[in-house]
Amino acid sequence: MLKIVVLVSGGGTNLQAIIDGIREGRITNTRLCGVISNKKDAYALTRAEQAGVPGVCVSPKDYDSRERFHEALLAAIDSLEPDLIVLAGFLVILPELLVKKYEGRIVNIHPSLIPSFCGAGFYGLRVHEAVLARGVKVTGATVHFVDGGTDTGPILLQKAVAVQPDDTPEILQRRVMEEAEWKILPAAIDAIANGRFAQDANGSYYMKED
Ligand code: GRF
Repeated sequence: MLKIVVLVSGGGTNLQAIIDGIREGRITNTRLCGVISNKKDAYALTRAEQAGVPGVCVSPKDYDSRERFHEALLAAIDSLEPDLIVLAGFLVILPELLVKKYEGRIVNIHPSLIPSFCGAGFYGLRVHEAVLARGVKVTGATVHFVDGGTDTGPILLQKAVAVQPDDTPEILQRRVMEEAEWKILPAAIDAIANGRFAQDANGSYYMKED
């Protein structure tokens, strides 16, 4: 049984996809042990409560230094003893200590086809604004392992989404969520929980067929 903790900052639609995936059997062998938000008013915490999942806010505003906040965040995660940490719209740069301690056991969902439109400053609507400004015809989402960089860890899954004429950032964000994020994040968790990722001769990850 894979014990997961989901870190959130906002609306929690990716968290909801995980909750629904477990309930509906698309994510197996997995237990959602807790949800941690850095924002008290994150609707993701409401979603956790509605699903009967323990939710807690660890806010930097409640600590007198960044170090104390990092310690509290790490303590909250450690207390749940996760096998996997899932970043689902978590807008906090992870402390190095956390990344090292859970190396290879942290995944993130990013709303573009990495290595395009990612890295510092590329989050939320900004990603889709940049996609539309560049005029690319295909975008999508990526699930990747988290390493010490920003959106630089090994890629696990990607799914492409067509950019349509007259898309706005909001319309495109919704399409990328519906057609990509909410599908590949649950799929990646299920694959990790059931040992279905392998690495090829290039060291790239791929999902083994059943
Ligand atoms: C999503 O667009 C995700 O790709 C990005 O942050 C957003 C989180 O949305 N990392 P939600 O909180 O899951 O609705």
